[in-house]
Amino acid sequence: MDYSKLAAFHDLEPELENFSDTLVTGLMKSPKSLPCKFFYDKRGSEIFDKICNLKEYYVTRTELSLLEKYSTEMLGLFGNDIHLVEFGSGSSKKIRKLLDSGKSIKAYTAIDISKEHLLDSCSTLADEYVDLSVSAICADYTRKLCLPTLPLNSYKKIGFFPGSSIGNFSQEEAVSFLKNAASALGSGSGLLVGIDLKKDTKLLEAAYNDKAGVTADFNLNLLFRAKKELGISFDLNSFQHQAVYNSNLGRIEMWLISKTNQSIEFRENKFVFTKGERIHTESSYKYSIDDIKELASSADYHISKSWIDANRLFSIHFLSLKN
Ligand code: TRP
Repeated sequence: MDYSKLAAFHDLEPELENFSDTLVTGLMKSPKSLPCKFFYDKRGSEIFDKICNLKEYYVTRTELSLLEKYSTEMLGLFGNDIHLVEFGSGSSKKIRKLLDSGKSIKAYTAIDISKEHLLDSCSTLADEYVDLSVSAICADYTRKLCLPTLPLNSYKKIGFFPGSSIGNFSQEEAVSFLKNAASALGSGSGLLVGIDLKKDTKLLEAAYNDKAGVTADFNLNLLFRAKKELGISFDLNSFQHQAVYNSNLGRIEMWLISKTNQSIEFRENKFVFTKGERIHTESSYKYSIDDIKELASSADYHISKSWIDANRLFSIHFLSLKN
């Protein structure tokens, strides 16, 4: 791969040691938990791309069709000479819907934790959009992020946070993410954010329990990495994926369940699992429109415009800072 077409690359990738420490801390908790950001190594990112194409996973296609249908209107709200900054850019597919609808986006910065995937996606994008200044930052956007000085840095910055990734934060974390984004993007900035809506439990649960088992593979990738990168010895098949909607908390919960009584040794620790014991790996909060208004307002944003599909599955919002 040739990365020379990128206008800039900043490597703020967290070190592997973090994975090992976090794993130990997480498995010492009760209930045990593992943080979801470690899903996204190269293998995980590739599995995630498959999730996005699953029949049961309505999220990606609904958001893409909203972007396709309303991108001209969205660009109109952004203004001229825009520097678009995407948080958790993955394969940088959705941004194309915006780029194809006008010429006002002059620069694009992708932020993602999965370095190879990030560089590949950005290079492909730079090849295809020769007039666009494309930069990449390998970083963990769930931490407070100070954006480095970027090419075309003085242009008005618009944040792009699609895929309902905001739902993977607790409400409190979502508020601090929004506040951090506002200060990183600077004055006059705005944020285009895709948020999954509350709906029928069956539809929700199907989206995270696909028949082909791709989501299961994705969830289990955490344990796959623990074996491969940290050399921990256990049987991957002794764990299984579970996704359930917790209606009290308004969130899908992802768990890894131990199928047997077992103990796993790592560093000086011995982690004991009883049969049926679960490790919490991810939550995906679902929002009502009122929830979203409240969330935006707690972070000193207001909703300038919302777009929702006819089946009310998914929503996109353009947030502006309150004055
Ligand atoms: N932001 C996505 C969502 O909450 C991420 C996601 C989709 C996900 N499927 C998953 C995360 C399965 C963990 C496991 O819908």
